Amino acid sequence: MPPRPPLPLAGAAVLPLLLLLTAEAVPFVVLHGIGDQCANRGVAEFTRLLADWSAADGHCLEIGSGTWDSWLMPLQQQADVICKKVKEMKELSGGYNIVGLSQGNLIGRAVLQYCDDGPPVKNFISLAGPHAGTASVPLCGSGIFCVIADALIKLEIYSDYVQAHLAPSGYIKIPTDMDDYLKGCRFLPKLNNEIPGERNATYKERFSSLENLVLIMFENDIVVIPRETSWFGYYPDGAFEPVLPPQQTKLYQEDWIGLKTLDEAGRVKFVSVPGGHLGISNSDMRKHIVPYLKDKPSASASLAATWHAVGEALGLMGDDVGVLLQSST
Ligand SMILES: *[C@@H]1O[C@H](CO)[C@@H](O)[C@H](O)[C@H]1NC(C)=O
Repeated sequence: MPPRPPLPLAGAAVLPLLLLLTAEAVPFVVLHGIGDQCANRGVAEFTRLLADWSAADGHCLEIGSGTWDSWLMPLQQQADVICKKVKEMKELSGGYNIVGLSQGNLIGRAVLQYCDDGPPVKNFISLAGPHAGTASVPLCGSGIFCVIADALIKLEIYSDYVQAHLAPSGYIKIPTDMDDYLKGCRFLPKLNNEIPGERNATYKERFSSLENLVLIMFENDIVVIPRETSWFGYYPDGAFEPVLPPQQTKLYQEDWIGLKTLDEAGRVKFVSVPGGHLGISNSDMRKHIVPYLKDKPSASASLAATWHAVGEALGLMGDDVGVLLQSST
């Protein structure tokens, strides 16, 4: 029996290289909601579980002091902090995924749409994001923030002063006061390309470059109003009813930020889960978040590696596997 010919050099060299390139899942960052901070048990545990289950590197990114700044620092400024951080994190330079919690989603979108020369965002997983605005101030409680917030809200919500001192005023959208909203609200109208004549094609281009946009809505959410805002649904201009599904809003139909483009490409997942605001179960995390954080190329590379090993054992190894590996990366 003639000796088996040696592996072609190309195949032998390509295999370890590709496994090396795909050995690590894309890292992800978590952006927490209002009144929260990365050091709190809930968000720390959430980040850790996602990292464990996906085998991806996960980082909760803090803004200033956390809780305090999440209430009082204007959202554009919060987004600038995160933009700077993600640029400095070498481990994100090949791309990363964003997991947004409530208000953190708007910061994440601002980073995606505005952060010039930032690392590419691949998947965006949104939990209870007030993407189309919210018609009331987030539930607070009785802490010092709430005292301050209440005092500020009693002033004009769209005044320069409130806009500069209360983060959620940047996305409170009173459907019966659209003129003031479009004129005075500093954050969301720009983020959603809502202002006629001021629409920026770059925001749309960046938003619609996402590989996947996962929009998770909570069936019993009473914090973001209406809860369908988590899917970009909202009230019509001028009235508090009915709630329009995303596809019937102008933002979608006129494709201001590329939501329609993404949806028609099958890259938007509209997910509804039981529970109150952010009350996601472990099984729903595994079902709706983890698959987007896992390294898919790596899975196909290891499948190909198995074929490689089988082929080698049978003496069938040729160039084919190298080609298969290359196309799967
Ligand atoms: C649109 O946004 C991009 C990114 O922030 C910016 O560089 C560009 O100048 C903006 N274009 C206009 C017309 O404002």
